[in-house]
Amino acid sequence: MEKTATAAGRRSGEWTLAEAEVLGRTVLRAPSVHNTQPWRLELTDGAALLLERTDVALPRHDPRRRDLAISCGTALANLELAVRVLGRRAEATVLPDPAHPEVVARVEAAEPLPPTDQELQRYGAIMVRRSHRGAFTGLPVSPEETARVVAAAVTTGVEAIRPSGTERLAKFFEHAARVLQDDGAYQRELALWTIRDEAAHPHGAGIRFSALPPGELPWAGLVRRATVIPDSALLRERLEAETLLLFATADDARADHIRAGYALERCWLEGVTLGLAGAVLTQPLRVAEVRSALCEDYRLAGFPQALLRLGRSTRVAPSSLRRGVAEVLGEKWRERR
Ligand SMILES: Cc1cc2nc3c(=O)[nH]c(=O)nc-3n(C[C@H](O)[C@H](O)[C@H](O)COP(=O)(O)O)c2cc1C
Repeated sequence: MEKTATAAGRRSGEWTLAEAEVLGRTVLRAPSVHNTQPWRLELTDGAALLLERTDVALPRHDPRRRDLAISCGTALANLELAVRVLGRRAEATVLPDPAHPEVVARVEAAEPLPPTDQELQRYGAIMVRRSHRGAFTGLPVSPEETARVVAAAVTTGVEAIRPSGTERLAKFFEHAARVLQDDGAYQRELALWTIRDEAAHPHGAGIRFSALPPGELPWAGLVRRATVIPDSALLRERLEAETLLLFATADDARADHIRAGYALERCWLEGVTLGLAGAVLTQPLRVAEVRSALCEDYRLAGFPQALLRLGRSTRVAPSSLRRGVAEVLGEKWRERR
């Protein structure tokens, strides 16, 4: 950020074009449900406002816009890191203005403060993090690594829990998969967000078909018609070979969803700095009876929001599409480019 007025007439505290690009591109790299990237940025003097796009909706998968808010939380984690690598202390406020609920967060770029090694490493992880929809190698994630990932959550009201015993989880996954596979409207919505012909869909949102092989659970990531659903005993074996983190929140309001996404992205990025691969699953949690059964069976004190699978991989996961930075930054920045 510029501290003083320049010959070009920029006011004190105004973001330069290069800084704006860094903020926009870093936000765009965040994971989002069905790769919707439901974000806009408004840059004001000395601060960045992260807004949720109201023109993006997944009425069948996400009628309460829970996953969209979680996706805004992941973008917030990235935005905060971008402000840090630009050398400012970042002060984030979630839902800063009740009169404007579309403003997810305000990140104040406060006084100059060089980023720490850990922040730089996590920032680097943003550029290489990808959803790994596939089996991991058998090499386990160590308890120390898991502890480091869990410690990265540090978000009020969010807990990253290791679900004890995978038997019930496997049973719930199997049930959710069968429900979703038979839900025609759900499958149509997923198909709409699955991009088979990129030339016909140049907007840069949605999931590449090639990134969603029919596959088997839990590796397929998203249940489609062709997804193979193994019985729960086999599914349990597979889940046991992975490190699973369940993100649960004390309450189930929009602020909780945003915070869950923020914690999720921080943990995922920390995992990437440790050389781990990861993938998020919320699809089974959006089946109402699975959500409530999970709370009961695992005696959760709060609400399950997302699952993060972690493991090791020798395979590079496919890259995903992204919207253009001008779409996130808006007209004002488009004109300045
Ligand atoms: C809230 C949320 C929910 C998600 N749910 C799933 C899911 O159930 N299954 C899945 O395979 N991927 C899921 N994803 C991952 C997105 O599809 C992925 O982030 C997006 O396609 C971009 O790809 P990338 O992560 O490789 O950058 C989810 C991501 C978020 C943030």
